[in-house]
Amino acid sequence: MIQIAVLGYGTVGSGVVEVIETNKTDINKKAAEDLSVKYILDLRDFPGDPYESKVVHDYSVILNDPEVKIICETMGGTKPAYDFTKQALLLGKSVCTSNKELVAAHGPELIKIAKENHCNYLFEASVGGGIPIIRPINYSLTAEHIDSITGILNGTTNYILTKMDREGADFEDVLKEAQEKGYAERNPEADVEGYDACRKIAILSSLMSGRNVSYEDIYTEGITKITSADFKYAKQMNKSIKLLALSRDTQDGFFAMVAPFLISREHPLYSVNDVFNAVYVHGNMLGDSMYYGRGAGKLPTASAVVSDVVDCARHQGKTIMCFWDEEKVEVADVTSARRKFFVRIAADQREAAMAVFGAMAEVNVGLMKEFGFMTQEMTEKEFNEKIEKTGGCINRIRIMA
Ligand code: HSE
Repeated sequence: MIQIAVLGYGTVGSGVVEVIETNKTDINKKAAEDLSVKYILDLRDFPGDPYESKVVHDYSVILNDPEVKIICETMGGTKPAYDFTKQALLLGKSVCTSNKELVAAHGPELIKIAKENHCNYLFEASVGGGIPIIRPINYSLTAEHIDSITGILNGTTNYILTKMDREGADFEDVLKEAQEKGYAERNPEADVEGYDACRKIAILSSLMSGRNVSYEDIYTEGITKITSADFKYAKQMNKSIKLLALSRDTQDGFFAMVAPFLISREHPLYSVNDVFNAVYVHGNMLGDSMYYGRGAGKLPTASAVVSDVVDCARHQGKTIMCFWDEEKVEVADVTSARRKFFVRIAADQREAAMAVFGAMAEVNVGLMKEFGFMTQEMTEKEFNEKIEKTGGCINRIRIMA
């Protein structure tokens, strides 16, 4: 019997207990040993809950119990999750987490401590919720040089953009509706400003490079400036607008960013709608592969945490290899990346734009007061200089090649 403790009895933590209970026959068989939740750590009490007798408020009870071999950290945030995780790993207790903030901020250090103490720090649920993506990168694609990852990594923003696309609605209205339905947080900043996707692409970029890509170095732009007019133009171009998180390992440097992009119907990520997530990975031998599913939610995320618990149970006393060194990756300046842009300017700037940008493709959706066009391929630096000479713009959206 392997005893488990769950830290945080919120949405994901209660999901972990539910997954272990619901699928216990399958899970125990796959873990080759019976798993049992011995403690649930939370500040609150849960009177009437079937697991109320397992709730403890003092973490030292869990740390000091030698029977507890695996800890599921589903608290979120870095405090006190960082200290709790470190203390557990130093005692040789494996930790499985859904906490992307903590993994993005301290991943390599915690992985190293786990290795030194012959246990594991696993984080499948931290990116893409229930979608297997960490394990494929760590185990399945080990024969590859992964040179590009492009993901839709945030369910809330994908839901909002899908609604805006389908219904021609404005951002604020869709956000309000998403909040009412529970698809968006009351404070939606981390999602709509792209910070959540930034943490997730920092984790994937680090695994892709084997070194540390700091989330603080990743250029991040959210979806708050996207309007219904932008979607009118997107439709005219046979495209949609998606919040993409991407990393590219190129001869010109390592690029990583989060921003809204126009993507064409032919792109595999075009059809990833609503709260779904997907990660599109390019390896130099395999070519393209894509991983799709529910990127958030209680049971999908909990399922990924429990898959890590099973892995820990199968590898007791051994550390599963994970290449994520503390050495820092220099992330290239986003303004040196080359791409095409879609631009909206005031109608009276048209002549100036033609003189500055040269060849362009007009996009007309019948909005008389403005002029929309696609540029040629250029660096962001060149684009920024040209748009300044033109006198600024209403909006500009990068175009995915
Ligand atoms: N807020 C996140 C999302 C939850 O919308 O994808 C999963 O990390």
